[in-house]
Amino acid sequence: TNNCYILGIESSCDDTAAAVINNGVILSNVVATQAIHEAYGGVVPELASRAHQQNIVPVVHQALQEANIDKNQLSAIAFTQGPGLMGSLLVGTSFSKSLALGLDVPLINVNHMQAHILAHFIKTEGQQAPNFPFIALTISGGHTQIVKVSDFFEMEIIGETIDDAVGEAFDKSAKILGLPYPGGPLIDKYAQKGNPKRFKFTKPKVKPLDFSFSGLKTAVLYFIEKETKENPGFIKENIEDICASLQYTIVDYLMDKLKNAVKQTGIKEIAIGGGVSANSGIRNALKAAEKKYGWKTHIPKFEYCTDNAAMIAIVGELKYKKEAFSANNVVAKARMKF
Ligand code: KG4
Ligand code: ZN
Repeated sequence: TNNCYILGIESSCDDTAAAVINNGVILSNVVATQAIHEAYGGVVPELASRAHQQNIVPVVHQALQEANIDKNQLSAIAFTQGPGLMGSLLVGTSFSKSLALGLDVPLINVNHMQAHILAHFIKTEGQQAPNFPFIALTISGGHTQIVKVSDFFEMEIIGETIDDAVGEAFDKSAKILGLPYPGGPLIDKYAQKGNPKRFKFTKPKVKPLDFSFSGLKTAVLYFIEKETKENPGFIKENIEDICASLQYTIVDYLMDKLKNAVKQTGIKEIAIGGGVSANSGIRNALKAAEKKYGWKTHIPKFEYCTDNAAMIAIVGELKYKKEAFSANNVVAKARMKF
Protein backbone atom coordinates (compact mmCIF):
# COMPACT_ATOMS: atom_id res chain seq x y z
CA THR A 1 0.00 0.00 0.00
CA ASN A 2 3.01 2.31 0.02
CA ASN A 3 3.29 2.92 -3.67
CA CYS A 4 -0.21 2.73 -5.06
CA TYR A 5 -1.84 3.78 -8.31
CA ILE A 6 -5.56 4.45 -8.01
CA LEU A 7 -7.88 5.09 -10.95
CA GLY A 8 -10.76 7.44 -10.09
CA ILE A 9 -13.95 7.51 -12.15
CA GLU A 10 -16.62 10.22 -11.95
CA SER A 11 -19.97 10.15 -13.76
CA SER A 12 -22.53 11.69 -11.40
CA CYS A 13 -23.84 14.47 -13.62
CA ASP A 14 -22.81 15.61 -17.08
CA ASP A 15 -19.02 15.18 -16.96
CA THR A 16 -17.37 11.85 -17.72
CA ALA A 17 -14.03 11.90 -15.93
CA ALA A 18 -11.09 9.64 -15.10
CA ALA A 19 -7.87 10.36 -13.20
CA VAL A 20 -4.86 8.46 -11.88
CA ILE A 21 -3.29 9.33 -8.53
CA ASN A 22 0.02 8.10 -7.14
CA ASN A 23 0.82 8.88 -3.50
CA GLY A 24 -1.26 12.07 -3.42
CA VAL A 25 0.03 13.33 -6.76
CA ILE A 26 -2.32 13.50 -9.74
CA LEU A 27 -0.70 11.88 -12.81
CA SER A 28 -3.62 12.50 -15.16
CA ASN A 29 -7.00 14.20 -14.93
CA VAL A 30 -9.25 13.79 -17.96
CA VAL A 31 -12.74 15.27 -18.31
CA ALA A 32 -15.15 14.89 -21.23
CA THR A 33 -17.73 17.65 -20.85
CA GLN A 34 -21.05 17.03 -22.56
CA ALA A 35 -21.76 19.98 -24.84
CA ILE A 36 -25.09 18.45 -25.88
CA HIS A 37 -26.93 20.01 -22.90
CA GLU A 38 -26.18 23.59 -23.96
CA ALA A 39 -28.99 23.54 -26.50
CA TYR A 40 -31.46 22.61 -23.74
CA GLY A 41 -30.33 25.22 -21.23
CA GLY A 42 -29.62 22.56 -18.59
CA VAL A 43 -28.61 18.95 -18.08
CA VAL A 44 -30.96 16.39 -19.68
CA PRO A 45 -30.50 13.19 -17.59
CA GLU A 46 -31.38 10.75 -20.39
CA LEU A 47 -28.85 12.34 -22.75
CA ALA A 48 -26.23 12.48 -19.99
CA SER A 49 -26.29 8.72 -19.37
CA ARG A 50 -25.97 7.97 -23.06
CA ALA A 51 -23.02 10.35 -23.41
CA HIS A 52 -21.34 8.72 -20.38
CA GLN A 53 -21.67 5.34 -22.05
CA GLN A 54 -20.02 6.71 -25.18
CA ASN A 55 -17.26 8.52 -23.35
CA ILE A 56 -16.26 6.25 -20.50
CA VAL A 57 -13.85 3.89 -22.26
CA PRO A 58 -12.03 6.59 -24.27
CA VAL A 59 -11.73 8.79 -21.15
CA VAL A 60 -10.29 5.98 -19.00
CA HIS A 61 -7.98 4.99 -21.82
CA GLN A 62 -6.68 8.56 -22.09
CA ALA A 63 -6.22 8.86 -18.32
CA LEU A 64 -4.03 5.74 -18.27
CA GLN A 65 -2.08 6.93 -21.29
CA GLU A 66 -1.44 10.40 -19.86
CA ALA A 67 -0.39 8.88 -16.53
CA ASN A 68 1.97 6.71 -18.55
CA ILE A 69 0.98 3.52 -16.75
CA ASP A 70 -0.41 0.19 -17.80
CA LYS A 71 -3.82 -0.90 -16.48
CA ASN A 72 -2.16 -3.86 -14.77
CA GLN A 73 -0.27 -1.45 -12.50
CA LEU A 74 -3.52 -0.17 -10.96
CA SER A 75 -3.92 -0.94 -7.26
CA ALA A 76 -7.66 -0.20 -7.08
CA ILE A 77 -10.61 1.41 -8.85
CA ALA A 78 -12.46 4.24 -7.09
CA PHE A 79 -15.81 5.44 -8.44
CA THR A 80 -18.57 7.91 -7.59
CA GLN A 81 -21.39 5.97 -5.93
CA GLY A 82 -23.57 9.07 -5.46
CA PRO A 83 -25.25 11.47 -4.99
CA GLY A 84 -26.17 12.35 -8.56
CA LEU A 85 -28.34 11.39 -11.52
CA MET A 86 -29.17 7.68 -11.32
CA GLY A 87 -28.68 6.93 -15.03
CA SER A 88 -25.33 8.71 -15.02
CA LEU A 89 -24.13 7.01 -11.83
CA LEU A 90 -25.08 3.57 -13.17
CA VAL A 91 -22.68 3.91 -16.10
CA GLY A 92 -19.65 4.70 -13.90
CA THR A 93 -20.64 2.18 -11.25
CA SER A 94 -21.17 -0.74 -13.62
CA PHE A 95 -18.03 0.07 -15.57
CA SER A 96 -15.93 0.31 -12.40
CA LYS A 97 -17.28 -2.94 -10.98
CA SER A 98 -16.46 -4.78 -14.18
CA LEU A 99 -13.00 -3.27 -14.48
CA ALA A 100 -12.13 -4.12 -10.86
CA LEU A 101 -13.33 -7.68 -11.39
CA GLY A 102 -11.39 -7.99 -14.64
CA LEU A 103 -8.15 -6.65 -13.13
CA ASP A 104 -8.73 -8.45 -9.84
CA VAL A 105 -8.16 -5.31 -7.76
CA PRO A 106 -10.26 -3.78 -4.96
CA LEU A 107 -13.20 -1.53 -5.74
CA ILE A 108 -13.76 1.64 -3.68
CA ASN A 109 -17.05 3.56 -3.53
CA VAL A 110 -16.77 7.33 -3.11
CA ASN A 111 -19.27 9.93 -1.98
CA HIS A 112 -19.19 12.79 -4.50
CA MET A 113 -19.77 15.49 -1.86
CA GLN A 114 -16.99 14.17 0.37
CA ALA A 115 -14.77 14.15 -2.70
CA HIS A 116 -15.41 17.85 -3.40
CA ILE A 117 -14.12 18.51 0.12
CA LEU A 118 -11.21 16.06 0.16
CA ALA A 119 -9.97 17.47 -3.18
CA HIS A 120 -8.11 19.93 -0.93
CA PHE A 121 -5.75 17.07 0.01
CA ILE A 122 -4.45 16.54 -3.52
CA LYS A 123 -0.78 17.54 -3.41
CA THR A 124 -0.51 20.86 -5.21
CA GLU A 125 2.59 23.02 -5.54
CA GLY A 126 2.37 26.25 -3.58
CA GLN A 127 -0.75 25.15 -1.72
CA GLN A 128 -1.22 23.90 1.79
CA ALA A 129 -3.91 21.41 2.74
CA PRO A 130 -6.42 22.62 5.33
CA ASN A 131 -5.95 21.67 8.99
CA PHE A 132 -8.71 19.90 10.89
CA PRO A 133 -11.22 21.02 11.93
CA PHE A 134 -12.23 23.29 9.05
CA ILE A 135 -15.40 24.59 7.43
CA ALA A 136 -16.06 23.49 3.84
CA LEU A 137 -18.37 25.46 1.58
CA THR A 138 -19.33 23.44 -1.48
CA ILE A 139 -20.93 25.59 -4.18
CA SER A 140 -21.82 24.33 -7.64
CA GLY A 141 -24.66 23.83 -10.10
CA GLY A 142 -25.86 20.85 -8.08
CA HIS A 143 -24.89 21.61 -4.49
CA THR A 144 -24.71 24.30 -1.84
CA GLN A 145 -23.57 23.02 1.53
CA ILE A 146 -21.66 24.11 4.62
CA VAL A 147 -19.86 21.17 6.20
CA LYS A 148 -17.92 20.94 9.44
CA VAL A 149 -14.94 18.70 8.68
CA SER A 150 -13.35 17.19 11.81
CA ASP A 151 -11.30 14.53 10.05
CA PHE A 152 -11.01 12.92 6.60
CA PHE A 153 -14.20 10.94 6.99
CA GLU A 154 -15.75 12.78 9.88
CA MET A 155 -18.01 15.39 8.33
CA GLU A 156 -21.23 17.02 9.41
CA ILE A 157 -23.52 19.08 7.18
CA ILE A 158 -24.38 22.16 9.22
CA GLY A 159 -26.16 24.11 6.50
CA GLU A 160 -27.53 23.63 3.00
CA THR A 161 -29.88 25.02 0.39
CA ILE A 162 -33.59 24.41 0.88
CA ASP A 163 -34.27 24.78 -2.87
CA ASP A 164 -31.93 25.68 -5.77
CA ALA A 165 -28.14 25.41 -5.70
CA VAL A 166 -26.15 28.64 -6.01
CA GLY A 167 -24.90 27.68 -9.49
CA GLU A 168 -28.52 27.31 -10.56
CA ALA A 169 -29.20 30.82 -9.26
CA PHE A 170 -26.41 32.07 -11.53
CA ASP A 171 -27.49 29.96 -14.50
CA LYS A 172 -31.24 30.65 -14.25
CA SER A 173 -30.67 34.39 -13.82
CA ALA A 174 -28.33 34.30 -16.82
CA LYS A 175 -31.07 32.60 -18.84
CA ILE A 176 -33.51 35.40 -17.95
CA LEU A 177 -30.87 37.85 -19.21
CA GLY A 178 -30.68 35.92 -22.49
CA LEU A 179 -27.20 34.51 -21.83
CA PRO A 180 -26.29 30.95 -22.97
CA TYR A 181 -25.96 27.98 -20.57
CA PRO A 182 -24.07 27.74 -18.25
CA GLY A 183 -24.37 31.45 -17.59
CA GLY A 184 -22.43 31.67 -14.31
CA PRO A 185 -19.05 32.43 -15.89
CA LEU A 186 -20.64 35.07 -18.18
CA ILE A 187 -22.33 36.83 -15.27
CA ASP A 188 -18.91 36.88 -13.59
CA LYS A 189 -17.29 38.35 -16.70
CA TYR A 190 -19.82 41.21 -17.05
CA ALA A 191 -19.92 41.76 -13.29
CA GLN A 192 -16.25 42.69 -13.22
CA LYS A 193 -16.99 45.79 -15.31
CA GLY A 194 -20.21 46.85 -13.61
CA ASN A 195 -21.47 48.77 -10.60
CA PRO A 196 -22.48 46.30 -7.85
CA LYS A 197 -24.54 48.89 -5.97
CA ARG A 198 -26.67 50.04 -8.91
CA PHE A 199 -29.59 47.64 -8.42
CA LYS A 200 -30.84 46.08 -5.20
CA PHE A 201 -31.92 42.46 -4.85
CA THR A 202 -33.07 41.29 -1.44
CA LYS A 203 -31.34 38.37 0.22
CA PRO A 204 -33.74 35.52 1.04
CA LYS A 205 -34.28 34.85 4.75
CA VAL A 206 -33.87 31.29 6.04
CA LYS A 207 -32.09 29.67 9.01
CA PRO A 208 -28.62 31.18 9.74
CA LEU A 209 -26.63 28.43 7.98
CA ASP A 210 -29.18 27.48 5.29
CA PHE A 211 -29.61 28.95 1.81
CA SER A 212 -32.54 29.70 -0.48
CA PHE A 213 -32.14 30.85 -4.06
CA SER A 214 -35.49 30.27 -5.77
CA GLY A 215 -36.83 33.67 -4.64
CA LEU A 216 -33.85 35.48 -6.11
CA LYS A 217 -34.53 34.00 -9.54
CA THR A 218 -38.16 35.19 -9.35
CA ALA A 219 -37.01 38.64 -8.21
CA VAL A 220 -34.69 38.87 -11.22
CA LEU A 221 -37.50 37.77 -13.54
CA TYR A 222 -39.97 40.41 -12.25
CA PHE A 223 -37.30 43.10 -12.29
CA ILE A 224 -36.35 42.39 -15.89
CA GLU A 225 -39.97 42.12 -17.03
CA LYS A 226 -40.80 45.49 -15.49
CA GLU A 227 -37.74 47.29 -16.83
CA THR A 228 -37.92 45.89 -20.37
CA LYS A 229 -41.60 46.91 -20.62
CA GLU A 230 -40.48 50.50 -20.17
CA ASN A 231 -37.28 50.13 -22.19
CA PRO A 232 -36.85 47.12 -24.50
CA GLY A 233 -33.11 47.84 -24.65
CA PHE A 234 -32.74 47.71 -20.85
CA ILE A 235 -30.77 44.45 -20.59
CA LYS A 236 -28.33 45.30 -23.34
CA GLU A 237 -27.69 48.80 -22.05
CA ASN A 238 -27.21 47.70 -18.43
CA ILE A 239 -25.87 44.14 -18.60
CA GLU A 240 -22.69 44.95 -16.66
CA ASP A 241 -24.47 46.69 -13.80
CA ILE A 242 -27.20 44.03 -13.65
CA CYS A 243 -24.62 41.23 -13.44
CA ALA A 244 -22.47 43.11 -10.92
CA SER A 245 -25.46 43.80 -8.67
CA LEU A 246 -26.68 40.23 -8.90
CA GLN A 247 -23.25 38.76 -8.20
CA TYR A 248 -22.75 41.17 -5.31
CA THR A 249 -26.02 39.97 -3.74
CA ILE A 250 -25.12 36.28 -4.13
CA VAL A 251 -21.54 36.65 -2.86
CA ASP A 252 -22.65 38.76 0.08
CA TYR A 253 -25.22 36.08 0.94
CA LEU A 254 -22.58 33.31 0.82
CA MET A 255 -20.26 35.39 3.00
CA ASP A 256 -23.07 36.07 5.52
CA LYS A 257 -23.55 32.32 5.86
CA LEU A 258 -19.83 31.69 6.30
CA LYS A 259 -19.67 34.35 8.99
CA ASN A 260 -22.56 32.62 10.76
CA ALA A 261 -20.76 29.28 10.49
CA VAL A 262 -17.54 30.73 11.93
CA LYS A 263 -19.51 32.30 14.77
CA GLN A 264 -21.36 29.08 15.55
CA THR A 265 -18.37 26.71 15.39
CA GLY A 266 -15.47 28.99 16.33
CA ILE A 267 -13.56 27.55 13.35
CA LYS A 268 -11.79 30.14 11.19
CA GLU A 269 -10.27 27.86 8.57
CA ILE A 270 -12.44 27.82 5.42
CA ALA A 271 -12.11 25.65 2.30
CA ILE A 272 -14.33 26.15 -0.74
CA GLY A 273 -15.04 23.82 -3.65
CA GLY A 274 -17.47 23.28 -6.54
CA GLY A 275 -17.69 25.12 -9.88
CA VAL A 276 -18.88 28.40 -8.37
CA SER A 277 -15.56 28.72 -6.46
CA ALA A 278 -14.23 30.00 -9.79
CA ASN A 279 -16.27 33.16 -9.26
CA SER A 280 -14.08 36.25 -8.94
CA GLY A 281 -16.47 37.85 -6.45
CA ILE A 282 -16.31 35.00 -3.94
CA ARG A 283 -12.53 34.68 -4.37
CA ASN A 284 -12.00 38.38 -3.66
CA ALA A 285 -14.40 38.31 -0.73
CA LEU A 286 -12.54 35.36 0.82
CA LYS A 287 -9.17 37.02 0.37
CA ALA A 288 -10.54 40.16 2.01
CA ALA A 289 -11.87 38.05 4.91
CA GLU A 290 -8.36 36.76 5.64
CA LYS A 291 -7.26 40.28 6.50
CA LYS A 292 -10.56 41.51 7.89
CA TYR A 293 -11.49 38.58 10.14
CA GLY A 294 -8.25 36.61 10.42
CA TRP A 295 -9.64 33.64 8.52
CA LYS A 296 -7.43 31.15 6.71
CA THR A 297 -8.98 30.28 3.35
CA HIS A 298 -8.33 27.55 0.79
CA ILE A 299 -9.38 27.58 -2.85
CA PRO A 300 -8.26 24.56 -4.92
CA LYS A 301 -7.04 24.74 -8.51
CA PHE A 302 -10.02 25.25 -10.80
CA GLU A 303 -9.70 21.79 -12.37
CA TYR A 304 -10.23 20.30 -8.90
CA CYS A 305 -13.21 22.61 -8.17
CA THR A 306 -15.56 21.60 -10.98
CA ASP A 307 -16.70 17.99 -11.29
CA ASN A 308 -13.57 15.89 -11.87
CA ALA A 309 -12.12 12.46 -11.17
CA ALA A 310 -8.95 13.63 -9.40
CA MET A 311 -11.09 14.25 -6.32
CA ILE A 312 -12.52 10.73 -6.60
CA ALA A 313 -8.99 9.34 -6.91
CA ILE A 314 -7.72 11.12 -3.77
CA VAL A 315 -10.63 9.74 -1.73
CA GLY A 316 -9.91 6.35 -3.29
CA GLU A 317 -6.32 6.57 -2.09
CA LEU A 318 -7.31 7.62 1.43
CA LYS A 319 -9.75 4.71 1.64
CA TYR A 320 -7.28 2.28 0.05
CA LYS A 321 -4.79 2.97 2.82
CA LYS A 322 -7.49 2.09 5.36
CA GLU A 323 -8.52 -0.93 3.26
CA ALA A 324 -12.05 0.46 3.15
CA PHE A 325 -13.21 -1.45 0.08
CA SER A 326 -16.67 -1.87 -1.46
CA ALA A 327 -18.75 -5.01 -1.23
CA ASN A 328 -19.26 -6.81 -4.54
CA ASN A 329 -22.95 -5.95 -4.52
CA VAL A 330 -22.44 -2.18 -4.01
CA VAL A 331 -25.02 -0.07 -5.89
CA ALA A 332 -25.25 3.52 -7.11
CA LYS A 333 -27.28 5.90 -4.93
CA ALA A 334 -28.97 9.05 -6.26
CA ARG A 335 -29.27 10.41 -2.71
CA MET A 336 -26.53 9.81 -0.22
CA LYS A 337 -25.59 10.97 3.25
CA PHE A 338 -22.00 11.34 4.47
O1 KG4 B 1 -18.98 21.88 -10.11
P1 KG4 B 1 -19.60 22.14 -11.44
O2 KG4 B 1 -18.73 22.10 -12.65
O3 KG4 B 1 -20.73 21.11 -11.71
C1 KG4 B 1 -21.78 20.84 -10.83
O4 KG4 B 1 -22.79 21.55 -10.94
O5 KG4 B 1 -21.63 19.92 -9.99
O6 KG4 B 1 -20.31 23.58 -11.33
C2 KG4 B 1 -20.94 24.17 -12.44
C3 KG4 B 1 -21.60 25.45 -11.97
C4 KG4 B 1 -22.50 26.08 -13.02
O7 KG4 B 1 -23.71 26.45 -12.41
C5 KG4 B 1 -21.72 27.29 -13.47
O8 KG4 B 1 -22.52 28.34 -13.94
C6 KG4 B 1 -20.99 27.67 -12.21
O9 KG4 B 1 -20.60 26.43 -11.65
N1 KG4 B 1 -19.83 28.53 -12.44
C7 KG4 B 1 -19.76 29.84 -12.08
C8 KG4 B 1 -18.50 30.32 -12.49
N2 KG4 B 1 -17.84 29.27 -13.11
C9 KG4 B 1 -18.66 28.20 -13.05
N3 KG4 B 1 -20.64 30.60 -11.43
C10 KG4 B 1 -20.29 31.87 -11.18
N4 KG4 B 1 -19.12 32.41 -11.56
C11 KG4 B 1 -18.18 31.68 -12.20
N5 KG4 B 1 -17.02 32.21 -12.57
ZN1 ZN C 1 -20.13 18.20 -8.00
